[in-house]
Parts: sequence; structure tokens; C-alpha cells
Amino acid sequence: MMWATLLTGLVLLSAILPGLSQSDNDIKGRWKRSIDLNDVYYSKMRRYRLPNEVTPTSYHLDINLRSSFESDQFNGHVKINLTWSDTSDRITLNVHENLEISHVSIRMIRLAPDEAGKGALMDVNIARTEYQRPKSWYIIHLEQMLKNGSACEVDIKYSGNLTTNETTGLYKSAYMDSEGRKHPFIATYLQLDNARKMFPCMDEPPYKATFKLRVFYSNDLRVRTNTRQISLIQVNEGARNQATFEETPRISTNQLALVISDLQHIEPVIEVNEMDGRKLEVKVWGRKDFIESLVDVPDKVVEVVNYLQNYFNSSLGLSKLDVMAIPMYSNSKASDNWGLMFFKESELSSPLVWTTAYELLYQWIGQSVTPYRRNDAPVNKALNSFLASMATIDLNPDEMEGKWPMTVLYSLYYEFAQTAPFSRVAGIRHEATWTKAELVFRMFNYTLGHELFQRSVRKFFHQQLKEGRTFFANDIFTYLNDVANETNNLPPGLTINGIAASWINRDRVPLVTVIRDYETGKINLSQKVYLRDIPPQSTAKVSYQWDIPIVMQAESNLNFHNAKPTVWLKKDNEPKNLTISDITSKDNFIIVNPEEIGMFPVNYDSCNWKMLSLYLQGPNRERIPPLTRAKLLHDAWNLAYAGELCFGIAMNVTLFLKQEKSHVVWEPVFTMIHHVGRRIEGLDVYLKFEAYIRSLLKPLYLELGENPQPNEPSWKTHMRGLMKNFLCRAGYEPCVKEARDQYKKWLTDEEPDKGNPVANKFLCPVFKWGTNEEWEFGLQRVINFPKTSLARKQNERTYLLKTLAGCPKDANKIERLLQVAVINQNENFTDADIHLIFSMLTGSATGYKTLFNFLHEHWYAVKERFENKTYLWDGIVNFATSSFNTQEGYDKVNRFYMDHQNEFESADSIIKKALRIIKQETKWNEENVPVIDMWLTENLSKEDLEAIANSTSTLSTTAAPTTTD
Ligand SMILES: *[C@@H]1O[C@H](CO)[C@@H](O)[C@H](O)[C@H]1NC(C)=O
Ligand SMILES: *[C@@H]1O[C@H](CO)[C@@H](O)[C@H](O)[C@H]1NC(C)=O
Ligand SMILES: *[C@@H]1O[C@H](CO)[C@@H](O)[C@H](O)[C@H]1NC(C)=O
Ligand SMILES: *[C@@H]1O[C@H](CO)[C@@H](O)[C@H](O)[C@H]1NC(C)=O
Repeated sequence: MMWATLLTGLVLLSAILPGLSQSDNDIKGRWKRSIDLNDVYYSKMRRYRLPNEVTPTSYHLDINLRSSFESDQFNGHVKINLTWSDTSDRITLNVHENLEISHVSIRMIRLAPDEAGKGALMDVNIARTEYQRPKSWYIIHLEQMLKNGSACEVDIKYSGNLTTNETTGLYKSAYMDSEGRKHPFIATYLQLDNARKMFPCMDEPPYKATFKLRVFYSNDLRVRTNTRQISLIQVNEGARNQATFEETPRISTNQLALVISDLQHIEPVIEVNEMDGRKLEVKVWGRKDFIESLVDVPDKVVEVVNYLQNYFNSSLGLSKLDVMAIPMYSNSKASDNWGLMFFKESELSSPLVWTTAYELLYQWIGQSVTPYRRNDAPVNKALNSFLASMATIDLNPDEMEGKWPMTVLYSLYYEFAQTAPFSRVAGIRHEATWTKAELVFRMFNYTLGHELFQRSVRKFFHQQLKEGRTFFANDIFTYLNDVANETNNLPPGLTINGIAASWINRDRVPLVTVIRDYETGKINLSQKVYLRDIPPQSTAKVSYQWDIPIVMQAESNLNFHNAKPTVWLKKDNEPKNLTISDITSKDNFIIVNPEEIGMFPVNYDSCNWKMLSLYLQGPNRERIPPLTRAKLLHDAWNLAYAGELCFGIAMNVTLFLKQEKSHVVWEPVFTMIHHVGRRIEGLDVYLKFEAYIRSLLKPLYLELGENPQPNEPSWKTHMRGLMKNFLCRAGYEPCVKEARDQYKKWLTDEEPDKGNPVANKFLCPVFKWGTNEEWEFGLQRVINFPKTSLARKQNERTYLLKTLAGCPKDANKIERLLQVAVINQNENFTDADIHLIFSMLTGSATGYKTLFNFLHEHWYAVKERFENKTYLWDGIVNFATSSFNTQEGYDKVNRFYMDHQNEFESADSIIKKALRIIKQETKWNEENVPVIDMWLTENLSKEDLEAIANSTSTLSTTAAPTTTD
């Protein structure tokens, strides 16, 4: 959800919705996971792929840590059984340059099948060894050529240094207890290609082998690895310990794990159900001072394990599972080694189920069976993510309600409807790809039904377990397809793989239009690419088509458990649309794609919309489930925004919000308000719009109450936060007062640059509604921000600067900021700061208008100042001009351009583009603003309209809302 948050953050500009939700933060980490073998790894791997001549079958690995706590060194001894899969006279292993090999020998253990009759094993001799540093290849050249099917055991003794400056390979770290005593520990992080730092091996995921591990150590610490300890020999009261572990199943080298520490453990009260004749033993580990925070974790783990065992109809394949909160764990990714999982402390102690379920799922899909290549990992991630959501809905429904799938889905709708998806934010396309795939799994779960879906996942898992334990992305879909075919679930000509591809491979979603002919009783269905902004003429029209399941509900027969498609709108339909018989009479509405079964918005004829909006205002409203109510609202509003639907109709669909109590429906409303609000901000209609929004919010806000109640569900707190935030931005008095009171603490601080005692969420209201002095104080804090302080992070400063620029409603504050940063050339402002200020100013009409005036007035000074800084010059021209959206604005910018026609230089094309954009926006406004205005005038209360009339006549630009009348 992180990237989704990121997108929403951008949408809400300023990211001035700080700390909205505790739970958002809690689940923020969920997208960063261990199996997402990253680019670096694979680009390297593709280049340095080990030759496919021999395959390891088993490792015996001895790690000697007897002197490691003192000297940071360790000794190792590995024996690897290798089978020839080709004729070759060499063995290539991955060995990190920091391992020093002291002995290598080889013995033959099996002849090739066609030589087997010829008698005794031959002697194999090493001709020479060679180290290729850039590839970290250690090549053993043999004197003999061995044939396909031969097998040898390689024996290598080596020594190495523990990693101490980072947490990779076999590393040493330490934590402090509450008394300040240091507790060293040794642990592994072998993900990606770090196993070669611990032992010579074939360090690529598909080379799976069994491992027998022995650890030698000399203290009273405890060793944990993937498997159970089978013996511990102690000599000299622990001075010479030797711990031996059960042989692992076949695993990849990077799945091996080892920890030697004094962490303590707790055990669950409830038990894991017996499965495959095994009863999994669960232990949760943490340092002594932290273990209290983990008390609820063991039972949670057991609960999830039972759920997943049941889902897969399989144990996780090991007899024990250790879940560890590793102190000082600095990898961004939890490390889900088979049977031994490492978490950040804060991540493990969270009471939420989703992350635990998601990580545990990797024990099955990821550890027991592993994606073969990088391209296969996102599908793994997507499937696990879907299954984790499913598990969470079943085990702890409150946690997901209103968040999934909406948060990700609505962000996708938003992004894919852009003229150029992902153009603003690099790096999230990747994330979006597997989020899409997750929603495709969700779609199949609905259209095939929960049972068939589960049956295919089980089949996939058990079959892969029997075969190579590695899988390709397509395998998952193939199993879904096979099961679907067994039950005639798909119409002829469609395959699951084909359907999935049309949804996953594109950064677009379809818009389905449903037109009912009430005379003839027919429904016409058609699809086209969903776009929110009118694409510039130059953009070629994209003509993608999808295979779309059309699930329908009729007012006369509402049954939201039925998710079977009535029909599929196929991509190769000829003609492109499809006509079917209506499913109900003409005075009943229909709903297509209820519950967001497929990733697509739906438009209807105006008559159907009208029936829907009336029903939503009526007493039976809740017969339509919240997610579908939210969808109707979302689609209507966004289609109007996109010019596909008259705003009057969309506004009618919003009327039911006055009675709406479900946060699921409310959740996305704020983004929608923001989108439209941003377009009309600064126009007269905006006051009416705000008044209308307040009239929608008020009933629920009153019901929620001003302050949190003890033990209230988290969504209440969350909703109150959203509402308060909205009201606060609109100048709601109690909120502004609270913010200013908090801010006073800082204002009166003797040494204000030592730290900021004010929570972020209070800054914006103060800078917006507070005095010039309060704002100026904030500015001084940016200017005097300590450059080298461990206690203060640069992002604190960035946040301050963003709010100082993005929040004010008074032009004079912005003028002052521009004066200081640009004209006075205050050296505390870097180029990046200045660019940030400019970009923040596009968030409000006051902002960009002031920036425009500033550029206008200080033309030559600014031009000189940015003479050698094209980036800033282009930036200021862009941000100062491109946000206007009226004819008046167009004329102003155009005149400005004429006045300085030959002086824009690099920014010439930018302002030309801005003029084009303004024209488009103006067109939008001219088409929609009168409609919105008229609708609002008809629907606002008399009091509201009078209040607005009064406030505009007294030139106050804001009507502070009240909640008590
Ligand atoms: C290799 O195979 C031989 C013969 O089966 C066996 O004795 C030896 O223990 C194996 N070594 C490893 C490292 O698995
Ligand atoms: C390990 O560290 C020691 C001391 O810093 C150094 O002399 C030695 O070369 C290192 N060994 C390896 C294999 O890098
Ligand atoms: C740790 O040390 C190694 C070798 O000296 C170096 O390659 C690596 O970049 C260092 N890592 C960090 C995080 O400093
Ligand atoms: C899976 O599909 C079933 C309908 O067969 C539905 O009830 C269930 O909520 C779906 N699960 C998820 C997680 O979407």
C-alpha cells in the first residue's frame, strides 16, 4: 500500500494530510518483501550465470564460531555432492572474495550410468583452481573429463571474516539492554547473493539441495537454524559446543539461516493442528527487554499457520518454526527463511494480522516452492498478497475493512486513467504491476468461486512440491485454467492465462458502458480505455481490449453472493459491443461489476443512474453492500470528472452521503473532493462547493464526536482524523485553536532549534490560519535548522518547508518566502529547496497566483538569478503558469508571454505547453462549472446560500464551518 499512499500523497499535493491513520503506517512496510529478488541481483545473475554443467544435491556444512566473538573470524568446512548434468572437467562455485580457501579435494562417489558396469570408481584429481573475482567464481579444473550422470563430493576448508559493518552474509551485531550491557550475536542474511559470503556454493535459487549443518561454538548462547537441533555435545562446560541440526529439505542457498544469540523465546498457548503427521512447534524470539511486547505473537502465528495449513492442505514441510525479532535489524525486508523468520522488532510486535499472514505465506509459496526467475517473483508476491488479505478478512475482518481492495484499486484507477501513467512518480510501476496481479487473483476468486480457486492453488502447490520445487509465473494461471476447464467455468475461447494477460500487461483499465434500451428490453455493453483527462491531440488513441467478466445485479433480485458472470465481454468480440436481454424490468435498476469484482469503472444510461441514486437515498440503501455503494459513488464522480457523465447526475449520486454511516463508503470521498476542489478552487463556485461538502460531512462528524472514545474501532479514529483534517483546512475554529496552542510550546521554547515539540499535523493549520509571526517563526526554524545534528533529521526540515510554502492562504507569507529564498539568496536554501517551494505553490490558487505575480514583477532579477540553473528557471516558469484554469488566467499568462516573448529561452516550450494546458482546463471549467454551480444553488440550504452571499460581500474568503447549529 505504500506506493498507493505515495500516489494519494501526490494527489493530495502537499502531503499535508499527516499522520492520518495509525494503521496506514502499520501496514506501510507490507510491500517490501524478501522474495522480490531485485534487479541488481538478477541483472548480475544473468550476466554471471553459473554454467549449467553440474548440480548440487547436498551440502554438509560445518561452521566454527569458537573464536568469532573475539576475533570476528570463522572457519568453515563444506562438503558438496554434485551430479554432472553435462560432460565437463570443471566445477564452478560462487565464493566471495573474503573467504580464504585452505584446502580443496574431490572424490568420486558415482560413475555415469553408461560406465557403471565398468567396475570401480576412478580417482579424480584437481589440475588447478582459478578465481575469477568480478564474477566471484571459484573454478576447480579436473584432470579427468566426467560424464553426464557422474557424481562427486567436493571437500573445501576455508576461513572468513564475519561482516561487521552491515547485516549481510554471516554477520555480527550487538544490542544494548536497559542496563547498558552489550549483547553480541551472530546471524545470517543470505538473501540475494549473500550465501557465498558464508560458504562456497552454487548461489542461485534454482540450485536447490539439502543441507546438514553443524555449528561449533564456545559460550552459553543458543543456536537456531532452519531445522530442529538433533544433538548438542558440550565439552568443558560449554567451552567446546557442537550443535547438529536435522537435514533440511531441498532449499536454495539463500534460504539457509543461522542465529546464535541470547534471545529468549515464548511459546503459544494454543497448538498448531497436526498436518501430514506433523505438529509444528512454534517459538517466538526476542531480546529480554522486548519479549513483553511479543506476548500475543505466538498465538497469532499459530492461528495463521492453522488457517494456511488448512488452505493449502499441507504442513509447511518442517517440524518447527522460529519467528525472531532481530534487534537492530536494518534490512528493509523481513527475511522469511524456511523455518526461521527474521523480523524487525517493531514489525513483529504489531497486533495486525496482515503482515504476519503475508510473511507466513512465503513459507509455503516462496520457501517450499520458489519462483524460478525474477519475472516470476511478482506473481508470487501478488498471490501471497491476495491470500494474506483473504486470511486477514477471515481472521481479523476489522483490519481490512474499507482499505482493501479500495486503497490500491482506486489508486490504480487514478493512475491508469492518466494520459501518461506513472509519469510523475518513477519506480512505482513495478509495484503497481503486481498489485494489479493481486486484483486479478481477486477477480478469479470471485468469477471461479472461492472453492475452485482454492482447489487450483492447492493443486499448484502440491504439484510443484513434487516436481522441482520451483515454479514459473504462468504455472499458477495454468492450474487455475485446468481447474476452470474441468468445471466448464469459462466460455469457449477464453483461457485464464489469456484473460490474466490482458489485465496484467497494461497500464490501463477499461471503462464499461451499459446502455439499457427500456423499449426493447435489451442491454448494450461496450468497452473502451478509461481515461480521466482528455488526452492531448497528439496522443494516438489507444485501442486496447480486455476480456471482461460481466457480473450483474438487478434491483428485483439483489444477491451479492452471486458473483458468476452473466456474460463475458470479450476482447475479440466483433462487433466491439454486445447486446443481451435485460435482466429485469424497466423500473428496476441494474448494477454491473458489483463489489469491484473486475478492475473497471462502469457507466450507465442516465435513467439507470437516476434509479440508483434514488434507491441509495431510500430506506433499503444498505441492501447494497458498502463496497458497491462506494463504487457507484466513485464511478459516478470520476466519470463526471472525466467528461463521460453529466456532473448533475454525479452530484445526485452524492446526496445519499448525508445518511451514509459506513466508513468504507466515506474513505475515498476525500480524494474525490480534493480532485474536483482543486479544479475549482479560487472560483466563486468553490464556496458553495465547500458548503455542500460540509453539509455532507456534518451528520457523520457529529455522530463520531469530537474526541476518541476508549476502545472505539480504529476506523472511527481514522474517519474522525480525515474529517477533522478536512474541516481544519477549511478553518474550523476548534481545530485551528488546538493547533496554535500546540505550536505555542515551540514558540516559547528557549532553544527552538534543538527539536520540534509540535506534531506535524498541527503545522499546516497554523501556517494557514495563524498569524504572520507564527509563520515567520517557522521560517526561521528552517533557516536555522542545525546542519549536523544526530537528533534532527533532514526530513523534518523538508516537511516544515513544504508546509510553509504549501499551506498559507495569505499571499504576503508566500511573497516573503520567495523574497528570502530567491531574491535575498539566503544561502540556507538549496536549489532543491527552491524547487520544492515552487512545486508546493501549485497546491492552491493563492500559491500559484502569487508565484506568477512574483515572476512577473521580478522578471529580470529572477532571470539573472537562475541564469545558469535551467532546472530552476524551467521550474518557476512551469509552476507559475501551468495551474491557471480560466479564460482570465489564460489571458494573463498569454499577455505575460507576449511581453517577454523572446526571453523565455529554455522555458519557451514550457510556457507554450502551459498555455495549452490552461486552454484544456478552461474548457473543462466552462463545461462543468456552470453545471456544478447550478446544481449546488438548487441543492444548498437557504442558510448556506445566504452565509456565502454575506461572506463574499465582506470579502472574507472563507466560511468557517460550524458543527453546533
Ligand atoms: C555424498 O554422497 C555419498 C554417497 O552417497 C555420501 O556418503 C556422502 O555423505 C554425501 N556427502 C554429502 C555432502 O552429502
Ligand atoms: C580478515 O580480517 C583480518 C584482520 O582484519 C585480515 O588480516 C584478513 O586478511 C581478513 N581475512 C579475509 C579472508 O579477508
Ligand atoms: C562494508 O565493508 C565492505 C568491505 O570492506 C565494503 O565493500 C562495504 O561496502 C561496506 N559496507 C558498508 C555499508 O559500509
Ligand atoms: C472469494 O470469493 C468468494 C465468492 O466465491 C467471496 O465470498 C470471498 O469474499 C472472496 N474472497 C476474497 C478475499 O475476495
